[in-house]
Amino acid sequence: MNTLPKEEAARAILARNDRGGYTVPTDRLYPFQWNWDSAFVAMGFAVFDVARAYRELERLVEGQWDDGMIPHIVFHAPSDTYFPGPDVWGTRHRVPTSGITQPPVFGMALRHVHEAALASGTAGAAERTTVLFQAALRSHRWWLSARDPDGLGLVSILHPWESGSDNSPAWDQALARVPTTTTTAIRRKDTGHVDASMRPRDEDYQRFIHLVDTYRDCGWDPARQWAAAPFKVADVQMTAILARATADLIYLAESLGTDDEKAELARMHARLCDGLAGRWRPALSRFVDLDLIAGRDIEEPTQAAFIPLVALELDAAQRDAATAEIERWLDGMVVGVPSTPAFSPAFEPKRYWRGPVWAVVNWLICDGLRLNGAEDLARRIERTTVRAIENAGFCEYFDPTTGEGLGGDTFSWTAAAYMVLGRRT
Ligand code: GLC
Repeated sequence: MNTLPKEEAARAILARNDRGGYTVPTDRLYPFQWNWDSAFVAMGFAVFDVARAYRELERLVEGQWDDGMIPHIVFHAPSDTYFPGPDVWGTRHRVPTSGITQPPVFGMALRHVHEAALASGTAGAAERTTVLFQAALRSHRWWLSARDPDGLGLVSILHPWESGSDNSPAWDQALARVPTTTTTAIRRKDTGHVDASMRPRDEDYQRFIHLVDTYRDCGWDPARQWAAAPFKVADVQMTAILARATADLIYLAESLGTDDEKAELARMHARLCDGLAGRWRPALSRFVDLDLIAGRDIEEPTQAAFIPLVALELDAAQRDAATAEIERWLDGMVVGVPSTPAFSPAFEPKRYWRGPVWAVVNWLICDGLRLNGAEDLARRIERTTVRAIENAGFCEYFDPTTGEGLGGDTFSWTAAAYMVLGRRT
């Protein structure tokens, strides 16, 4: 098997962040199991230890709610280095969890791990994949019923943290309508681990917690939350990941599913792809989110604009426009794709989701570029990402203008991205 210059260091990070079958994103700053982090991490483990890759997904599913939702955090073991903890969420699942979700990369990871299991002849693969396939299917059903009750073909987030791009400028206007009052006392822990200039502002935190208070008061019931939500955005990044994960479940269903499941997944997939296709804006050369409360497009440029490539095959004109737009965002950057482009007034190259580059975002964008035949651009982005990691370390994210590593260090999903993207360059 190929090895990379920092292969051993990458594996050591996953080992160091292993807490017994699940991996924390990084020590102290994020001391529990996070949903989409674990999906990427499972794909990283699949490079060298397929059984451990399955375990990561199985432990995440321990947090799955009876209604199908897979929460954004599973609090397997207590830690006092993170806020808000289980007492603030006040959920009632058998394992303590948060009450919101995160991008469903799970289905993509499951196919990836399953294929790695077949390639390596791992014992028990079909049984393990089948159990996880059923969990994924339940979670996709939850997405469509809880987060697209009006059948738009787009799923919505009710909290910026669900997007995975917590502090993105895409949420600014919608979040500004959320009150800053909270019934929970705010005790920020993040700024004790990372410089405050890289993290969200206090006022944003008050709004984040106001939303948690609101949904807890709804008893975490999806219909009540949908009705009460002061923040509701139909997100193209989330919808694209769900659509792609659905395609991956369709692939798995060919060998592991029933005819009814295949038909149900095909209907889901068509609905999501139709909804997503309608979010392309030719004048902007990208896809845009929809603020359901204001009834308006969200035109702030962010990386979410290109994630639909992972799910849709664009026509030639769209593909050329989207790749030219990505090239424009890369212009003058040491490493791209920036989470907010330098030409945007909101661009801050060091602040959370307002400019920095995330390796896992590039992973998704590059998969989308490949699916759409833009191999050269994908390789260029992958190469600069791998180089940034080799130069700066396994940081949480990178300043696109300098390549400097920022946020938490020894990050699990950056290690996973390194091993997977590094093998392609
Ligand atoms: C932050 C990121 C989110 C990630 C989490 C753990 O909250 O915005 O995407 O899942 O950290 O790494």
